[in-house]
Amino acid sequence: MALADGRASIIATKETLMARITIIGGTGYAGSHIADEAATRGHAVTSWSRTSPEQPLDGVTYRTGSVTDGDTLTAAVEGADVVIVSLSPRGSMLGQVELVVANLANKLAGTATRLGVIGGAGSLQVAPGGPRLIDGDQFPDAFKAEAAELGRVLDQLRASEESLKWFFVSPAAGFGSYAPGERTGHYRVGGDVLLTDDEGQSDISGADLGIAIADEIERPAHHRRRFTVAY
Ligand SMILES: NC(=O)c1ccc[n+]([C@@H]2O[C@H](COP(=O)([O-])OP(=O)(O)OC[C@H]3O[C@@H](n4cnc5c(N)ncnc54)[C@H](OP(=O)(O)O)[C@@H]3O)[C@@H](O)[C@H]2O)c1
Repeated sequence: MALADGRASIIATKETLMARITIIGGTGYAGSHIADEAATRGHAVTSWSRTSPEQPLDGVTYRTGSVTDGDTLTAAVEGADVVIVSLSPRGSMLGQVELVVANLANKLAGTATRLGVIGGAGSLQVAPGGPRLIDGDQFPDAFKAEAAELGRVLDQLRASEESLKWFFVSPAAGFGSYAPGERTGHYRVGGDVLLTDDEGQSDISGADLGIAIADEIERPAHHRRRFTVAY
């Protein structure tokens, strides 16, 4: 926003850059990469998880509690400029992530706080207008329940109140803790269609996903939209 007074503009710019970021699941694979990148850039990062991390990151404040508990969820979002959900609907959290996001959507609608959800590649289309990855024969059965729940989370966000400031990220299909990769500082951004490279691969490292999310936090480019990140 243009300000009449140059000094005020500099202060406003600094305030924009120093965001208070809550990462729900900030000790997990995606969440810890986002926490690391955001804290390194000087943001005030608070991570919530049920257990403490074995290797805490410098500059990150760790809080413990389950966000399936309403009071814990309220405490987690208190004072945050941006809330990132990096929960995985696996094990005891299967069926719970969509409830947590619904609860957050209710809490944050009409507020200035942005809600960013780290989802999956399964709900991406294989080609414009084409089927979703999850609907193809080759999608692994082991990931179907997780991908289906995250697809419902996206639908839920799309149907949410207009006053909710949300974005949803589908990482590349090959993203995951089994393929952490390297930090390159490069990535491409797409919309609802899977991004692949010249060899048909769809990948992004943990560190580069962290960069993409920190960039989105600092320079919001996706309002009430899903985007995908890949090489
Ligand atoms: N290629 C792909 O599409 C792809 C691949 C991988 C992941 N993903 C997506 O990325 C997102 C994150 O996945 P991830 O692999 O990074 O997950 P993860 O490593 O399993 O991390 C989950 C995080 O959530 C925390 N958590 C779980 N239940 C919680 C609760 N009730 N309250 C508070 N914290 C809780 C965990 O810590 P505690 O256990 O200590 O609570 C941990 O910090 C998911 O949506 C996943 O589907 C997509």
